[in-house]
Amino acid sequence: MSKHVLGAKPSVLRCARCGRFVDWEDAQVQTVCGCRPRLQLPSVLVRQAEPEDRDACLALFKRDFGRAAIVAFGEVMALEEYPAIVAEMKGELAGALAYRLVPDALHIVALATDPMWQRSGVASHLTAEAELLARRHGRERLVFSTTNDNLPALYFYQRRGWTVTEVVAGAMIPHATGVGFAGIPVRDEIRIEKRLNPAS
Ligand SMILES: CC(C)(COP(=O)(O)OP(=O)(O)OC[C@H]1O[C@@H](n2cnc3c(N)ncnc32)[C@H](O)[C@@H]1OP(=O)(O)O)[C@@H](O)C(=O)NCCC(=O)NCCS
Repeated sequence: MSKHVLGAKPSVLRCARCGRFVDWEDAQVQTVCGCRPRLQLPSVLVRQAEPEDRDACLALFKRDFGRAAIVAFGEVMALEEYPAIVAEMKGELAGALAYRLVPDALHIVALATDPMWQRSGVASHLTAEAELLARRHGRERLVFSTTNDNLPALYFYQRRGWTVTEVVAGAMIPHATGVGFAGIPVRDEIRIEKRLNPAS
């Protein structure tokens, strides 16, 4: 694998308490109960990205990941090379999911929700659409890879039936640019998958 400086995400999240945007390394995890009410939000429109969405998608990924490439499964992947699904809310690009089809799976290459629209169901809709796409292409599982510090992603995916398949200890050390989420050092690649139940 070529030496690229990747891994620590200066991405922006939105504070669940005050609503302000927070830098990746300044964010914190807190335990809450189910007191937060389910909000009535505008509906999410999910569709395949068109060529004219390309720049906006790349801008969203770059804003979230600080760059337009990621390291996953031993490859440096330029995000502009992959097809994407986009989510719109109130006519705005609210989120995007880049993917590729590999022989036995659909690989989610990147997933990002604009901080303005986080906790509005955007990523849930995008991953549900990715599952439909996987089925349509005859794939029985989806795969994704993230870093040890990315607690929001590990929480999000495991809550939705994904399981860890492999931890590649130290894989991200050559690529990390600094500290990760909440100041946690970026060190390891966590590979996860979701197996789809056969359609009934
Ligand atoms: C991880 C990430 C993709 C989640 O995106 P998201 O669009 O906020 O996700 P969702 O809104 O679908 O779900 C997040 C939470 O919001 C809550 N939520 C969704 N709709 C809601 C509503 N109408 N009212 C209240 N809460 C709601 C969900 O309950 C969910 O929490 P839960 O799992 O405890 O149920 C997002 O935080 C992100 O973009 N992170 C930065 C980039 C990143 O790390 N990507 C992953 C690695 S590539």
